[in-house]
Amino acid sequence: MSIKQTVTLLQSKNGICCALQRANSWWSGVQMGPPDAILGVTEAFKRDTNPNKINLGVGAYRDDNGKPYVLPSVRKAEEKIKAKGLDKEYAPISGVPEFCKRSIELALGENSPAVKNGLNATVQGISGTGALRIGGAFLNSFFPGNKIIYLPSPSWGNHNPIFKHSGLEVKSYRYYNPKTCGLDVQGTLEDISKIPEKSIILLHACAHNPTGVDPNKEQWKEISEVIKKRNLFVFFDMAYQGFATGSVDNDAFAVRYFLEQGHNIALAQSFAKNMGLYGERAGAFSIIGSSKDEADRIMSQIKILIRPMYSNPPINGARIVAEILSDPGLKSEWLPEVKGMADRIISVRNKLKENLKKEGSSRNWEHITNQIGMFCFTGMTPEQVEKLVKEHSVYLTKDGRISIAGVTSKNVDYLARAMHLSTK
Ligand SMILES: Cc1ncc(COP(=O)(O)O)c(C=O)c1O
Repeated sequence: MSIKQTVTLLQSKNGICCALQRANSWWSGVQMGPPDAILGVTEAFKRDTNPNKINLGVGAYRDDNGKPYVLPSVRKAEEKIKAKGLDKEYAPISGVPEFCKRSIELALGENSPAVKNGLNATVQGISGTGALRIGGAFLNSFFPGNKIIYLPSPSWGNHNPIFKHSGLEVKSYRYYNPKTCGLDVQGTLEDISKIPEKSIILLHACAHNPTGVDPNKEQWKEISEVIKKRNLFVFFDMAYQGFATGSVDNDAFAVRYFLEQGHNIALAQSFAKNMGLYGERAGAFSIIGSSKDEADRIMSQIKILIRPMYSNPPINGARIVAEILSDPGLKSEWLPEVKGMADRIISVRNKLKENLKKEGSSRNWEHITNQIGMFCFTGMTPEQVEKLVKEHSVYLTKDGRISIAGVTSKNVDYLARAMHLSTK
């Protein structure tokens, strides 16, 4: 056999040659999809060689050195779990039972009548995204009204695809007022009052993403009232409990208030942010029924929906959450850690606003401190954002959203100057 023949044979064996020669692929019709908007920002940031560059695109908490933060309570929980020498058997379809129990207690409060009376059907989800997706699947299969979900405008970019993928129709209601960089209360109430009865409405429980704009308590009460009048079903997305005000109870106000008012809600929870468990994918989905029997029936159907999707959820993150929430000592260490993250975000908001003033900006930047949670909708135009990126190497999404978690005491001066120069 000649050398050329040997090479050809080897190439055929390892498939390289065949792959190159395959003319009629099954997949020739697959078009290149657009890159993810936020990952695109990170890619551009990585390529930039400016030593002052800042990435304000990612929705993950960073410490004051701009580094990912693993909570000390999480580290301790991991040690405790390791010491138990647990097995790696499958979790039930509905997830780690202790995790489900503790999650719903955290959301509704330990003394919640709904929890005490067993009205909740709670399952573990693959973080908040998975919880929303289970909810979408359940509503698509069983919601007795209009299978239309109304989202605030704007909403987290993944809401629309999650619910469309679940088979629901997606529409929106006014929420954010670009003129005030605050809540469009009138618009919100007006639009909700026109939603067809027996539809579904999604509410961000706290720390609205992407705007950082939350209703105050009075406004929540008004929203609850209109929703009740329209007989809408409420789906709360609570991805940031504790992250907005620093208190898990304050941040759960809307969810608990709506329940008190007699709404039978659905709820998606995530422990990505408040426990820093991003990659562990620990979340929960609940429906609060009107009786224990109803909750049991709902639970049986949710399990039937989950089984063909992923059989059962991962155990590690859920064990960490369960360990922290069920051990009073660990829980009392975790609560100030959440507050610490929220407080750092609040203090950096103040610093950014102050510095913009010091730079001589004549714009009104009050919304930087009025908004809450990880994100700030700055109100900058796409042109101003482009300037910020191109001339100052500050990376953010085109809608002008900055992740405050990426701002530190070291880069806040540079950021304020760059924002001022790009907006004056
Ligand atoms: C509003 C909202 N809901 C849900 C999620 C889900 O996040 P995860 O799937 O990481 O828990 C996020 C994450 O950014 C979010 O901002």
